[in-house]
Amino acid sequence: MISLPISGGVNGAPNIPGDKSISHRSIIIPSISNGVCEVSNILKSEDVLYTLQAFKDMGVKIQDEGKKIVIHGKGLNSLKKSNKEIYLGNSGTSARLLTGLLSAQKFNTIITGDESLSKRPMKRITGPLNRLNAKIYNNNGTLPIKIEGSELISGKIDLEIPSAQIKSGLLLAGLNINGETNIIENKVTRDHTETMLDSFGANIKIDKLEDKKFIKIIGKKELISKNINVPNDLSSSAFFIVAALINKKSKIILKNINNNPTRNGFLLALKKMGAQILISNTRFNNNESVCDIEVVSSNLKGCELSSEIADLMIDEYPILAIAASFADSPSIFRGLKELRVKESDRLKLILINLQNCGVNCKVSNDDLYINPSKKYEIKNNIIRTDYDHRIAMAFSVMGSKIGPLNITDSLSINTSFPEFKKEFNKLGGNLS
Ligand code: S3P
Repeated sequence: MISLPISGGVNGAPNIPGDKSISHRSIIIPSISNGVCEVSNILKSEDVLYTLQAFKDMGVKIQDEGKKIVIHGKGLNSLKKSNKEIYLGNSGTSARLLTGLLSAQKFNTIITGDESLSKRPMKRITGPLNRLNAKIYNNNGTLPIKIEGSELISGKIDLEIPSAQIKSGLLLAGLNINGETNIIENKVTRDHTETMLDSFGANIKIDKLEDKKFIKIIGKKELISKNINVPNDLSSSAFFIVAALINKKSKIILKNINNNPTRNGFLLALKKMGAQILISNTRFNNNESVCDIEVVSSNLKGCELSSEIADLMIDEYPILAIAASFADSPSIFRGLKELRVKESDRLKLILINLQNCGVNCKVSNDDLYINPSKKYEIKNNIIRTDYDHRIAMAFSVMGSKIGPLNITDSLSINTSFPEFKKEFNKLGGNLS
């Protein structure tokens, strides 16, 4: 895909798709609950469709009725052995969550993924599960893995890595464990799984002490289904928000956006940078906070972000780095180690691609330093994405200011936002 500069600003109200994290959970949790669940506004992107197919392969009746999907759940132990491998494409969330869930079922499963997912670390979830007696076999701690479903034993896991995927995988295993599974989270990560499990009647209790969270789940309690309306995705909105901020004569309105406080560090960071962002109409939908967001072109200033905020906005650093490149002072983003094990080594790709765009930046000890300037001279306009959707979309926004940029492997965008190009061009973008 080629991203060309634009002149007239970014204006309008884009259609933002349903939240990716909540969409995965809206398939997984109703599939093991009792009752019929109608899910509206679910994201129909590749990653989520792989989760959906996995549950169909395990015998769950799921009907696609266009605007909504209908899931007929039959309880905690109603899943059947798939008669083929469960292939999860590029989706790390599906892989980690399903590994947890399926380790406590009564059948065996083989999980595989595409080339990129097959390089991502799985030990972070299989290690803690093994401590609960899970029987999981893999080569080097990566996919493919073989899960021998079995009766797990309850225990206490102190999470070393801040990761909602690991926490969620353990919680889904805990649903089927006799007795009490305790999970200690030392840093806050997105809490969509806890929120949904609680509203489906799971025996889950959460205590907080300063930054720590103590989650206790008592298994073997059947869940009861509820209808879900998935809010729109802040992570997908982020590309339009930054495009509007850095391009003059812009104004956009985003509706019904998930503003969960364990997820919205990006908005806090942009406010610190002087962005003119108006949040209104904050309300609750299925216990998730949602709001409307208005953004206009702004003169941004640089900022320093501590590693504490990183877990509240981990997916937004590629696009935040683009915003920082158009601020009028330097920025430092600290503690970005986890960015190295996403769909690509995002820290490396942000650095290489920004440098190719002429931005003065460096990485030291997993901290990213960006020294913006008024004008950029492109050194190499081929953007390397390693099939990472967020790198592709972030540098599409970069191209709107300094293009033409050639975004390689841009089909990866289909993993989270199939309509991105159409929506961006509708607002005044120039992607071809
Ligand atoms: C996600 C958790 C995060 C995030 C990913 C989605 C989830 O990953 O980066 O895009 O839905 O639980 P980690 O758990 O690896 O931080």
